[in-house]
Amino acid sequence: MATELLTRQVLPDTARVNPAGHLEIGGCDTVDLAHTYGTPLYVYDEATIRARAAQHRDTLRAVYPSSEVLYASKAYAAPWLLRLIRELDLGLDVVSGGELALAERVGFPMERVYFHGNNKTPDEVRRALELRLGRVVVDSFHELDLLARLAAELGRRQRILIRLSPGVEAHTHDYRKTGILDSKFGFPISTGQAEEAVQRALAAPSLELLGFHAHIGSGIYEMDGYAEATAIGFEFARQMRERHGLELREYSPGGGWGIAYTPADRPMPIPEVMRQLTRIVREAAQRTGLQPPRLVVEPGRSIVGTAGVALYTVGAIKVVPGLRTFVSLDGGMADNIRPAIYGARYAALLANRASEPPDGPVTLAGKYCESGDVLIKDIPLPAPRSGDLVAIPASGAYNLAMSSNYNLAYRPAVVVVADGEPRLVRRRETIEDLLATEL
Ligand code: LLP
Repeated sequence: MATELLTRQVLPDTARVNPAGHLEIGGCDTVDLAHTYGTPLYVYDEATIRARAAQHRDTLRAVYPSSEVLYASKAYAAPWLLRLIRELDLGLDVVSGGELALAERVGFPMERVYFHGNNKTPDEVRRALELRLGRVVVDSFHELDLLARLAAELGRRQRILIRLSPGVEAHTHDYRKTGILDSKFGFPISTGQAEEAVQRALAAPSLELLGFHAHIGSGIYEMDGYAEATAIGFEFARQMRERHGLELREYSPGGGWGIAYTPADRPMPIPEVMRQLTRIVREAAQRTGLQPPRLVVEPGRSIVGTAGVALYTVGAIKVVPGLRTFVSLDGGMADNIRPAIYGARYAALLANRASEPPDGPVTLAGKYCESGDVLIKDIPLPAPRSGDLVAIPASGAYNLAMSSNYNLAYRPAVVVVADGEPRLVRRRETIEDLLATEL
């Protein structure tokens, strides 16, 4: 199992099984990490984040120089990570006042921040204007009017993109599709609302419309949805030039490319995704007779997903004879809600017995009061014993970001590993943290 997880890039780049038979990441023995910091523990491999960021950035710059990679911070936002993203020369996609405030705290260059969201509040919009954000991606008429008015009040001209709803299907879970007509995101083209948004934006002296954005969804392994959405977006842009004199200066297909959660997943290598996307954009530009615009991509998962591994300790083991073995972990849906809401699949290994062959299948359950709190159903593992250390790879994106205090769970500690050195970047929560906001 460990070998397959290594060769299929389900585990971080630096992962290996050391001579003790333990999973090692970033030169650190995960069994030692668990002893030192306790479990559940999230381990992030810095080298993997650096490599994934560089794969996006360097390929895109090479094949399409007028471009920018933004890290979608909704995948995971933490001070150490945004500092690293800044150091790696990526821009940032934020979707809330909180993500924006964090970007501000770490001194992220604001001209490289894009602000998304289908219902930005007046306070958020005002803050974005005050901080002089690079772009606001406008998602509704309500926001268009609000932004135009507040920008005028502050004497600013804000650069914007309009988010299109191109009406295409992405091959992913319904909850993660965003480009379909029946979606809360963006201005539908087919209904005429996108054109009306363009007209209103062009008529607002406090707004500078640079182009369009069309994120179609997340967890996508095929490029046809991007090709379709981009073709529709560019055809729309051509019409907007013809009818309203709008020049398409910038285009963003968003992010959304999938990673390997299990050895069965076959994501395209990141450089290949970048090459195909740029080809799609160039072809769309050529077909519509438009100049190739500046291209902005927004990966989240494909930057941090593979870098993160969750470590849990096995506690209770319940055998239902002839039916199933439930192996309960000390974490679960409070730190990883994804299996419960998307039916997301994961792989696992015993980090302290990583070279042992699997026995029968077991079900890895969480510790929270909910029957749906199961992380992995029926996975072959060496028969787990209480005290074993379970590692679940591909836990770097949308786990901690969507974590909760359900059952007053304490959010896990986070350690970043690099060159054999662990760095605790977040301590485990305590009851004091949970009570800090209670008056
Ligand atoms: N850009 C926009 C406008 C987005 O809405 C998203 C994700 C991204 C970029 C980044 O997508 P990524 O490259 O990370 O797939 N909670 C779900 C995923 C929700 C994604 C929301 N938007 C999950 O756990 O799979």
